[in-house]
Amino acid sequence: MPKTVSAVQDLPVRLRAGVRYQKHEIVAAIRSQAIPLLASGRLAMTKQFVQHSDLSVFQHCAHVAYISCVICMKLGLRVDYQEMIRGALLHDYFLYDWHDRRACHPYHPTYHPTLAMRNASLDYSLTKKEKQIIQRHMWPLTIIPPTCPEAWAVTMADKICTLLEVFRKERVRL
Ligand SMILES: [Fe+2]
Ligand SMILES: [Fe+2]
Repeated sequence: MPKTVSAVQDLPVRLRAGVRYQKHEIVAAIRSQAIPLLASGRLAMTKQFVQHSDLSVFQHCAHVAYISCVICMKLGLRVDYQEMIRGALLHDYFLYDWHDRRACHPYHPTYHPTLAMRNASLDYSLTKKEKQIIQRHMWPLTIIPPTCPEAWAVTMADKICTLLEVFRKERVRL
């Protein structure tokens, strides 16, 4: 039986290392990983919290996932895109409004990666690499550097995205 249009759209989009993809293909792959994460766990909560300018934490994380993919493609890095996108989508899974002094952890800049990793581990089954991506994304503010290219890409993309978002120049919104 031929597949319907919606059945085709529902197929997971997986990126492969060594291939240069177009923007819409990268966005489709990010969406593909975000949908099951939104359907379980508390990722949908991150849409309520502002990260930078008018962007929610969720949109910031999607932006970081996108820039991470672009970095890997430009540098020709051989990475597992699925793990990297999932790690990027969950890297700020601290689940509070960091602008609210009553809700925010007193050591938010250095503590939120650990908190995000703990929260994400409670809600999802994470690989070692996904945990590292989340836990080490604030390097060099946190002492231990990443050791895999996926975590390096997300660490770099997070800084680039923060600058772009503060100046309202973000490259993508889901
Ligand atoms: Fe963060
Ligand atoms: Fe971030």
